[in-house]
Amino acid sequence: MTRGTWPALLLIAVGISTALAADQAQRSGLDFTTPGIRQMQQDDFANPGMLWVTQGQALWNEAQGAAGKSCAACHGAIGSMAGISFPKRGKDGMAVNLEAQIEQCRVERMQAPPLGFESERLLGLTAAIRHAMRGKPAPVAEDRAAIDAGARYYAEKRGRLDLACADCHERLVGKHLRDEVISQGQANGFPAYRLRWQGLGSLHRRFQVCNQAVGAEVSPLGSPEYIAVEWYLAWRGRNLPVETPGVRQ
Ligand code: HEC
Ligand code: HEC
Repeated sequence: MTRGTWPALLLIAVGISTALAADQAQRSGLDFTTPGIRQMQQDDFANPGMLWVTQGQALWNEAQGAAGKSCAACHGAIGSMAGISFPKRGKDGMAVNLEAQIEQCRVERMQAPPLGFESERLLGLTAAIRHAMRGKPAPVAEDRAAIDAGARYYAEKRGRLDLACADCHERLVGKHLRDEVISQGQANGFPAYRLRWQGLGSLHRRFQVCNQAVGAEVSPLGSPEYIAVEWYLAWRGRNLPVETPGVRQ
């Protein structure tokens, strides 16, 4: 399909869809995938994302950096992370997500170089920690300023197609877009394995794909606006159990 056919397709879809009630039940992206993908996610032996989880668990216990310490040396078993809440405000008041917190521990506490956003090792650690939280909703800090900023970004029209996140993930839920079904755009499966990526990807990488889909400018991974949206999404999907690693088309 050429890029030019997107607007027409979307306009038709917007026209026939009915706006969803604000209190619509929260549904995981898992509900909108194919039965084959659902099965793959739910079977740890078939879920390709478990490879990153296993590697992240190993890295958790490995000495890293000049301080010669492992994550476990300070934090104990990775299971101790089950109740953490991200994004949160750092000491300087800046919002940080889980990836940024891990990088901060590497640099400040381990005297190790940062791993880099979207590096396989940072994805692995993030996935392993989120996996330790699996099965229960993650607690969300109700920071109104941050959540409101994320909600504003979510509602803003952007790009050549002049579409907001909410246009697709609230008004077009359940509609087909090319070979995908539009879900509520929930964050509970991330980092997630995407067949199209042939690998694991962060939530912010997914945001970049959605920005590109409407011809909008892409923000850097870990940018303040993406962390604000991440916070809003955590709050918006606060009843959904963590499912990391999700599997997606
Ligand atoms: C043109 C429609 C469209 C727009 C606008 C859009 N997305 Fe998406 N988004 C999709 C499609 C299609 C997918 C893949 C199928 C699915 O899970 O919805 C997706 C997936 C996602 C997912 C992953 C959901 C999952 O469970 O795997 C998240 C999170 C997300 N979008 C967030 C956003 C955010 C934030 C914005 C605004 C910056 C946005 N999207 C804008 C179409 C859109
Ligand atoms: C030398 C000790 C030390 C090491 C090693 C260390 N951390 Fe930390 N970590 C801390 C301290 C202290 C805090 C709390 C203060 C802060 O936020 O910086 C923290 C906070 C965290 C948090 C947030 C916990 C919460 O309750 O919100 C996460 C997640 C985390 N670290 C992950 C890691 C990972 C992953 C590694 C290994 C790559 C690591 N840490 C290595 C000392 C350490």
